[in-house]
Amino acid sequence: MIHKSLLDTIGSTPIIKLNKVLPQNSPHQFWAKLEFFNPGLSIKDRIAQAIISGAEKRGDLPPGGTIVEATSGNTGVGLAMVAAIKGYKCVFVMPEKISMEKQDTLKAYGAEVIITPSGLEPDDPQSHYSVAKKVAAENPNAYLTNQYDNLDNRKLHFDVTGPEIWEQTEGQLDVFVAGIGTGGTLSGVGQYLKSKNSQIKIVCNDPIGSILADLHKYGEVKEPPASYLVEGIGEDMLPECVDFTVIDDFIKVNDKQAFQLCRRLAKEEGLMVGPSSASALFGAFEYAKTLSKPSNILVLMADHGSKYLSKAFNDKWIQEKGF
Ligand SMILES: Cc1ncc(COP(=O)(O)O)c(C=O)c1O
Repeated sequence: MIHKSLLDTIGSTPIIKLNKVLPQNSPHQFWAKLEFFNPGLSIKDRIAQAIISGAEKRGDLPPGGTIVEATSGNTGVGLAMVAAIKGYKCVFVMPEKISMEKQDTLKAYGAEVIITPSGLEPDDPQSHYSVAKKVAAENPNAYLTNQYDNLDNRKLHFDVTGPEIWEQTEGQLDVFVAGIGTGGTLSGVGQYLKSKNSQIKIVCNDPIGSILADLHKYGEVKEPPASYLVEGIGEDMLPECVDFTVIDDFIKVNDKQAFQLCRRLAKEEGLMVGPSSASALFGAFEYAKTLSKPSNILVLMADHGSKYLSKAFNDKWIQEKGF
């Protein structure tokens, strides 16, 4: 098929059946939605396009203006790609734990990258959130995309990703599992799927160290936030895009479980995805143990493993971390 623009290739990603990396004798079917088929290799291309269109329509982003975002990488890639096509400048602020591949990728699209220390409170003046706000405030033509609280993000997943999943699965879906970074994916898709069938379970894989599961279960933080190595998911604050009312359960997953399964997925299924995708699959395996009837479980695989060559797919790094 011939497209007029790279932008037209965003979305309509495939769903595949997982055949090998499965719990023994499981009565369930596990499916994966492969978001690395997007041109920037992650799900974030979808929201990048929606957030920029939303800002253009409202007049928040003047022609040739500057896009500023505090990103853990993938949203930056999506925004940088859309910005390159549409003629905007980009400035990205990210914590130093983000892989070098992700930083260099943004620069390849012509974006400026600012690195801040990892593990700071969001309101710390040196955090990537605070620095991004400051950069945007100092530039009159800048638009702070703010993926965490920008409801164009969640709306895109309600309007597009949710219906896409519903049609692809012909409604034969029992459980949808994804991590929360901004919460846009799980909440938007969850809202849509529940609107079609309220029996579909919406489940979040939450890294150990993230406060989201506690907030959902107890309404307060029991375990203080701690650092972890899986990128893109888990939070130390509650983004506006999160809609807890459509989320049925949270499954805690640790780094070792995510990184080990990530490597197995590449070797055994030929599926080279990022650690957050493996974390979602691990969460799905755990959640599946609670199900009383054979179920169709769809796992969202957010990005491609080539973004993690210096970490998940580097033997030395894996050994150093004890995985
Ligand atoms: C690798 C990865 N996985 C999952 C997610 C979660 O998506 P969302 O921000 O829609 O909650 C993100 C987003 O930051 C991500 O970068």
